[in-house]
Amino acid sequence: MHIHRSPAAWVSAVFAFLGTPAVAAALVPRWGPAVVHERRAVHPGWEDSHRLPAGVPVPLRIALTQQNLHALPDKLLAVANPESPTYGAHWSAADVAAAFAPADEARVAVTEWLIHAGFAAERVKASYNKAWIEVDGATAAEVEALLETEYRIFKRDDGEEHVACHNYSIPAAIAAHVDFVLPTVQSNVKLVKVQKRNVLTRRQSVDPTTIGVNGSLVGCDTLVVPGCLKTLYNMTYKAKATDRNTFGIVSYYSNTYLQSDLDTFFGNFSPALVGTAPTLVSIDGGTIALDPDSSVGEDGWILEYAMTLAAPQPVQFLNVGNEQIGQFFSMNEWLDAVDGSYCTSGGGDDLTFDPQLPNPLPGGFKDHSCGTAKVPNVVSNSQAVDEHAYTAFYRQRQCNEFAKLGLMGVTVLYAAGNTGTSGTNTGISGTQSGYCIDDNGSVNLNATNFNPAWPASCPWITAVGGTQVKANATIGNAPEEVWNQDMTMGFFVSGGGGFSNHFPTPDYQKTAVANYLKFLAKNDPTTLQHFNTKGRAYPDISANANSFFNIGDGSVSVDSGTSGATPTVAAIITLVNDARISAGKKPVGFINPMIYSSGFASAFNDITDGSNSGCKGLQGVRNGGFKATSGWDPASGVGSPNLGKLIEKWLALP
Ligand SMILES: *[C@@H]1O[C@H](CO)[C@@H](O)[C@H](O)[C@H]1NC(C)=O
Ligand SMILES: *[C@@H]1O[C@H](CO)[C@@H](O)[C@H](O)[C@H]1NC(C)=O
Ligand SMILES: *[C@@H]1O[C@H](CO)[C@@H](O)[C@H](O)[C@H]1NC(C)=O
Ligand SMILES: *[C@@H]1O[C@H](CO)[C@@H](O)[C@H](O)[C@H]1NC(C)=O
Ligand SMILES: *[C@@H]1O[C@H](CO)[C@@H](O)[C@H](O)[C@H]1NC(C)=O
Ligand SMILES: *[C@@H]1O[C@H](CO)[C@@H](O)[C@H](O)[C@H]1NC(C)=O
Repeated sequence: MHIHRSPAAWVSAVFAFLGTPAVAAALVPRWGPAVVHERRAVHPGWEDSHRLPAGVPVPLRIALTQQNLHALPDKLLAVANPESPTYGAHWSAADVAAAFAPADEARVAVTEWLIHAGFAAERVKASYNKAWIEVDGATAAEVEALLETEYRIFKRDDGEEHVACHNYSIPAAIAAHVDFVLPTVQSNVKLVKVQKRNVLTRRQSVDPTTIGVNGSLVGCDTLVVPGCLKTLYNMTYKAKATDRNTFGIVSYYSNTYLQSDLDTFFGNFSPALVGTAPTLVSIDGGTIALDPDSSVGEDGWILEYAMTLAAPQPVQFLNVGNEQIGQFFSMNEWLDAVDGSYCTSGGGDDLTFDPQLPNPLPGGFKDHSCGTAKVPNVVSNSQAVDEHAYTAFYRQRQCNEFAKLGLMGVTVLYAAGNTGTSGTNTGISGTQSGYCIDDNGSVNLNATNFNPAWPASCPWITAVGGTQVKANATIGNAPEEVWNQDMTMGFFVSGGGGFSNHFPTPDYQKTAVANYLKFLAKNDPTTLQHFNTKGRAYPDISANANSFFNIGDGSVSVDSGTSGATPTVAAIITLVNDARISAGKKPVGFINPMIYSSGFASAFNDITDGSNSGCKGLQGVRNGGFKATSGWDPASGVGSPNLGKLIEKWLALP
């Protein structure tokens, strides 16, 4: 679905009330000169058309800086690092909310500034969770004066319009209390789900239930079924603490799954599950109802694998509804639902990514789900978008929230994307998938900087890369290599991997990254020019991403993608949690400090063959992604998991 969002609809739905216009005063004496707080990134395909008329209402919202965030990484490592005396002492949601809530001082300072600028006190409100300040009925002219900016209408060649400014400024003394202001510089980039689908033609003569059984990998090089994964990853453990454990899959919108597809799949690979549905956790009105005009999306086969691999562990299906913005994903919506203290209800999302609520469409959903769901121990997310598409503050805030979930003992997994070191997708309808990025943020065929994925590049999630089964592979003989398939028409799909342009290398991976940089300096020095060597590197871990046999819309198909690798790893971590819970221990929570530690190395199958792809366009860079090598690398992470050994390692920890 494609919704045109005109400025009039954009504002009228958010603001019914128009207050008395305020007159912005000169604020220099009290708070110091205004400094540029954020700038808009370059977005191909959008043209600056004209100025927004002065009287148009602008739903002004100011995100206050949270307290104690500098301490967040240390607090997280204190519960996630096995050497820490407080390992596993996860925090309650209430403790997390209290520790990081914005200071009263921030709220007071921003409120005073707004009132001094001429907004009547009754128009200035704190959101119910006190993380945001909202101003009722501000006009474009008022906000332009306040932020020393101009609201522009950006137009795209298909007619869609978007309001934004190029940059905005706030006084230095106020800036310290403000993360960001909305709506201002937010980008407007279409984001498309990680997915590749093609109908199986070549192996229909083979019975898939005979593949990957009895410890054999014969056939797994061309068709992956649950037996291949169980064999590859030493998955013999059976869940037994299912009433005390939780496992969730996040999904978006209405192209979900058909129970009849699941049952056909289960009938072949996990007969005890026939008739079993995932447990729906509805977010923003999310349902399992299929859009009658659309086919089943990738959620169908993700559930087939997640449920089969983790069985008999019930699987929660966290479906985010309210499909008003087509292919955009709002990661904030599931975060809002599981953490009321993060909830941005009543003023705070970026309408580029987050839904406008209440939804102005007929029957549109009215309110955000805020703190309505208990967060599962493991949350699997098969979405990957581009890091550069978000503003710095937005990215930082979301990444902090992932760290807070880690503090609470949650393992958050995200797909590393399907386009190697290049962009998963930007611009219109995915045409720039596989492109690199310029220093100025422009994504084009001549750009040469690798273009990392989000949220894979946030250091506080676990990013899952892709492998594939080698031709004629046998177990015990390094059966996997980096996923990299040359599709027709020069389009490559390969496991996402690379280095953040914004987040520094976290401590837990510094040694691993330093070793890899040495390997590159020696073996492939030109690649060093294409990325930020000081950035957070990903993926952290990997699993098969190639040729998943599945049932969708009643027929057999084969899909590939880190969309399938992610729930596979998530099911494995869920089984580790089961073993720990059965032994009276806590779930594993944020796993990165552990999986990079030398003690855990033997619990992974080191992937040392293959490489992921580079960027489209440049000769020599096109296939020049990252090579795998022994130990961690940005093509396969620490390797693929060995469940039996991971359970042994994790049971030895407190
Ligand atoms: C801010 O944007 C305006 C256009 O609205 C531009 O003229 C100005 O140079 C920009 N300033 C900075 C510091 O980027
Ligand atoms: C797997 O082993 C079982 C029991 O040993 C046997 O009955 C079955 O035929 C084997 N399957 C295959 C595909 O070899
Ligand atoms: C960005 O830089 C590239 C050169 O690397 C240049 O060709 C392009 O025009 C620049 N784009 C913008 C919008 O400044
Ligand atoms: C890339 O470079 C070529 C040759 O220098 C030029 O013709 C083309 O317009 C450039 N493309 C982009 C998207 O900048
Ligand atoms: C795999 O085995 C087939 C048949 O035995 C053989 O033709 C092919 O060359 C082998 N491929 C590799 C990569 O070893
Ligand atoms: C699989 O895990 C078991 C423990 O459950 C372990 O004893 C065995 O060595 C592992 N197998 C391999 C091939 O790593």
